[in-house]
Amino acid sequence: MAAVTNAGGFGVFGSAIDVANKGPDELLAEVKRISALCKGKPFGVDILVHGAEGGVMKQLIDAFADGGAKAFISGKGVPRRDVIDQFHARGMLVASIAGKLSHAVTAVDLGVDFVIVQGCEGGGHTGEVFTSVLLPQVVDAVKGRVPVVAAGGIYDGRGVAAALAYGAQGVWVGTRFMLTPEAKTHALYKERLLRATSDDTVVTKCYTGARLRVLNNAYVNKFASNPGLLEKNSAEVARRAWNDGVWKLHGGNATDYDDDVQAYVVGQNIGAIDTLVPAGDVVREMAKLAAATLVGVQRFVKGAGGLRTPLCEMLGCETPVMLAGMGGIAGAELVAAVTNAGGFGVFGSALAVANDGPDELLAEIKRISTLCKGKPFGVDILVHGAEGGVMKQLIDAFADGGAKAFISGKGVPRRDVIDQFHARGMLVASIAGKLSHARRACELGVDFIVVQGSEGGGHTGDVALSVLLPQVVDAVGHRIPVVAAGGVFDGRGLAAALCYGAQAVWVGTRFMLTPEANTNQKYKERLLLASSDDTVVTKCYTGSTMRVLRNPYVARYIDNPGLLEENSAMVAKRAWNDGVWKLHSGDATNYDESNQAFVTGQNIGAIKSLEPAGKVCKDMVATAVAVINARAGAKVNLKAKM
Ligand SMILES: Cc1cc2nc3c(=O)[nH]c(=O)nc-3n(C[C@H](O)[C@H](O)[C@H](O)COP(=O)(O)O)c2cc1C
Repeated sequence: MAAVTNAGGFGVFGSAIDVANKGPDELLAEVKRISALCKGKPFGVDILVHGAEGGVMKQLIDAFADGGAKAFISGKGVPRRDVIDQFHARGMLVASIAGKLSHAVTAVDLGVDFVIVQGCEGGGHTGEVFTSVLLPQVVDAVKGRVPVVAAGGIYDGRGVAAALAYGAQGVWVGTRFMLTPEAKTHALYKERLLRATSDDTVVTKCYTGARLRVLNNAYVNKFASNPGLLEKNSAEVARRAWNDGVWKLHGGNATDYDDDVQAYVVGQNIGAIDTLVPAGDVVREMAKLAAATLVGVQRFVKGAGGLRTPLCEMLGCETPVMLAGMGGIAGAELVAAVTNAGGFGVFGSALAVANDGPDELLAEIKRISTLCKGKPFGVDILVHGAEGGVMKQLIDAFADGGAKAFISGKGVPRRDVIDQFHARGMLVASIAGKLSHARRACELGVDFIVVQGSEGGGHTGDVALSVLLPQVVDAVGHRIPVVAAGGVFDGRGLAAALCYGAQAVWVGTRFMLTPEANTNQKYKERLLLASSDDTVVTKCYTGSTMRVLRNPYVARYIDNPGLLEENSAMVAKRAWNDGVWKLHSGDATNYDESNQAFVTGQNIGAIKSLEPAGKVCKDMVATAVAVINARAGAKVNLKAKM
């Protein structure tokens, strides 16, 4: 902790175990020891509890203040107003960690001095909404009343730069500092974490009764596949877990620990961390890379208000905003609106391919081409070539119709399919929700990769954009351009994506809510009522993980995973027969709202009205340019303003 403060950061003492095991005098002595190690520089103290204990809290406040701490951070739940007042009376700052928009707003209303927003990708107790969506919404909601700090997924300076682009004034980093020589983490715990990938973490209630991000294992799986096993209340959960020895490596007695049950608490960014680095070096490298990143992205700003990357040159568009090829939704009018605004419209051809013959398909693509007035556009389908002969017809229709690029929405396209598109002069891309898929697509010869974070709408993976994107950039970015998908709803998201190393954004949900989108009016009305907490990932509609609005139909399968059919075809057939697609693409008469597949991303909570697609595109670019210029132009000052 002192290592972080002495390197110029703000170290925070995680006092939970000391508070539980020590008396007030010992605690005071420990805080004083930290103060001495920090040599007069500032530090804070964090606990999960936040004042419900009355008298005990008074002792804690005294120990923290007398020990010389500068700030108190409440790790779980909003602190009571009288607790905040008492800390203030002792000259300390107070902050609260929030995993929901409503918690952040309540904390600010109660008088905290700053708020820490934790995205779902973070380690430990965590909410459901990822950083790319939650952070900018909290920044907007608190309207500059207090500084906002970003937590979850950050492991290097690109994450710091992106957090600043979203409007944060600092970053709160856990997992990266766990993997330092100074962290008290057990050596065996560190070893286990260093072997993990970002796909290995999962959120479970089976250790504490609250949502906790940990490494997946047999113990966690047992509760995931049978949620009914979970005890009624948190105390019972915690007791059973303790008795099962799950904390032996964490804070307990490590002798005879059972690896299969251990609670390896950690964030998704663990996959990007493969060595121990001294904490002071982590701080210095983060600050250095963040400053270089913020200055570096300025190279994409062209003239007054323009934004252009090498991928724009490749695609022939003016700005790095791509319309996600949403089947049944991204039709001719939406494609043309985005392309004509300088972006890159992509036709979601899934329904057309399923329902139309090759001639009708060709005619539709030619119509899009005419509407785009010679400007470039692409075509997306979920299938990618397993169909042999049919694929040849599609390639001809897309190429003859004048499309510039083909984007494979699910799965890596076959090499011969890629070659055939190339032979017809088209570019090929693949959407990847996993690092391994991005690597494979690159090896097979695609021209660019679209990386979709879990927060995105439609079929989606588990890993947040903040974690997956920079890892894909590191793995393939030196060979081909990388595009960011998932959670992007305004120019801050575009600026952040560029900070992570992307060369464009691929935007679905925001463009669904435009007059030009083929989304049913009732579907749009329902989505505009939703908050970011309302979405969930389920296999119950297609057999693959898909992000949709939560409803009774989805809840039934989440509560009873055993109800899910054995294979995707059976799932899809049952869902179709149940009429779940009526509003999306079927006959909307007599639809049942409680079972509809309202496919959408987490960013739906930030979208409150329909906006013309061209305006969405232009506003996104204008805001991104303003953010980049404000952060980089005015000489980067990475010193926290608090
Ligand atoms: C309603 C809807 C339908 C979608 N359909 C497709 C599709 O047919 N093909 C595809 O590649 N991706 C599809 N997607 C995923 C998008 O291509 C894109 O990756 C995603 O929407 C990006 O995240 P965002 O929604 O946060 O912008 C769909 C997404 C939504 C919201």
